[in-house]
Amino acid sequence: MSGILNSSIGRKFAMALSALFLMFFLLQHFAINILSVFSPDAFNEASHFMGTFWAVQFILQPILIIGIVFHFTMGIILELKNRRARQVKYAKNNGNANSTWMSRNMIWTGLLIEAFLIVHMSQLWWHEITVKYISPMKEDPTRYYHELVEHFESPVIVGIYIVAFVFLALHLLHGFNSAFQSIGANNKYTKALKGVSKVYSIGIPVGFIFIALYHHFAH
Ligand code: HEM
Repeated sequence: MSGILNSSIGRKFAMALSALFLMFFLLQHFAINILSVFSPDAFNEASHFMGTFWAVQFILQPILIIGIVFHFTMGIILELKNRRARQVKYAKNNGNANSTWMSRNMIWTGLLIEAFLIVHMSQLWWHEITVKYISPMKEDPTRYYHELVEHFESPVIVGIYIVAFVFLALHLLHGFNSAFQSIGANNKYTKALKGVSKVYSIGIPVGFIFIALYHHFAH
């Protein structure tokens, strides 16, 4: 493993795999949370299952945390290495001419998403850990919907979420294609992938914004 991470292609490949894994997580996270808009009962059922099934709690959740920490750490390492390489190139070329704002600012949009995750997890996820393992309470399978509605009462939280989801869209708009390119899927599928990338990168953050606004205004 450390051999793979010592080469620049290996690092890009590992970064892409962690990105694809996180994008898959985001899709399932969205699928469960959007249920809260259409069916509180279905949302409670799905959340109760995810929150109590042992394989999710003790296998998938730790893998997810490792994936987030890996992606974040590797992103910083790649950025530092790219900066050093770019200093040489910029002396010869105009470095901005062939790149988008999104590709040049992945580190900043990534850091903002990380800051959002710290706020988000310290509230919702830490609450879950507390009621399950630190000060265990009797499990009420219908509590999840009320907790979510309560979470979005605060306009400050809704505002922070909306800003974070705009940065999430900017991060995904470059990251989605870049991840597929790094694993070598950039040949005959390029056009189709670009379409899927746009739908995913804009659709998921807009959907999350909708969930936050819906619960803020509907109750
Ligand atoms: C309206 C938008 C969102 C809602 C309503 C929401 C809701 C939740 C809830 C209820 C939890 C606690 C569930 C649990 O720990 O079992 C949670 C955890 C978490 N959320 Fe979100 N989330 C939203 C957006 C996001 C976004 C955009 C990301 C990533 C960029 C994200 C990443 C996470 C992570 C990593 C966890 C902890 C892992 C887990 O246990 O599932 N969430 N979220």
